[in-house]
Amino acid sequence: MKFFVDTADIAEIKDLAATGMVDGVTTNPSLAAKSGKKFLDLIAEICAVVTGPVSAEVTALDHATMMKEANVLKKIAPHVTIKVPLTPDGLKTCKALSDDGTMVNVTLCFSPAQALLAAKAGATFISPFVGRLDDIGSDGMGLISDICTIYKNYGYKTEVLVASIRHPMHVVSAAKLGAHVSTMPPATLRQLFNHPLTDKGLKAFLDDWAKTGQSIL
Ligand code: G3P
Repeated sequence: MKFFVDTADIAEIKDLAATGMVDGVTTNPSLAAKSGKKFLDLIAEICAVVTGPVSAEVTALDHATMMKEANVLKKIAPHVTIKVPLTPDGLKTCKALSDDGTMVNVTLCFSPAQALLAAKAGATFISPFVGRLDDIGSDGMGLISDICTIYKNYGYKTEVLVASIRHPMHVVSAAKLGAHVSTMPPATLRQLFNHPLTDKGLKAFLDDWAKTGQSIL
């Protein structure tokens, strides 16, 4: 499974990229606004740190303006992935960009039917939001299961990019279902490293080692 970080915080991206766990980055207009940086500069900065796909979202609602925005974003770096909303105009833009060889991430997916449309439009990634579904008492991971089944049934190449992840078990459940990518906040990626028995075991090993009075160096 590929891990993307869902953030526009450069310091966090750099720090986590150094662990070798960051295969890409996703941003959205809310995360970009929170960064306080100029959007194009922000995306360029992220692209300089990460070699995998970096999602940058268009903000227009109509196809013609989405295409103009995508053409600006594409010029930043070859690994910029154009993020479009799951609307008729978004999917029209997805089709045009995909036909042209540009990576596209279709976002704000909340149903299997929407995911099927995105695959038919040639999306590189579909972003189903599991946390926001769970938040309203719906079954986020059930959606991932349905999409994985549908894509497998027809051999669609679109990768399932699980988004709106809230905790490590979302990542584990998505991996068990065979989803291709999890994009998660930096804090969740850090949580994946943790287990109390790892901490306890390490402490015991080092306590015993200290008793020997030796040093490897
Ligand atoms: O970037 C899309 C998605 O991951 C947003 O997550 O936590 O705002 O629901 P969240």
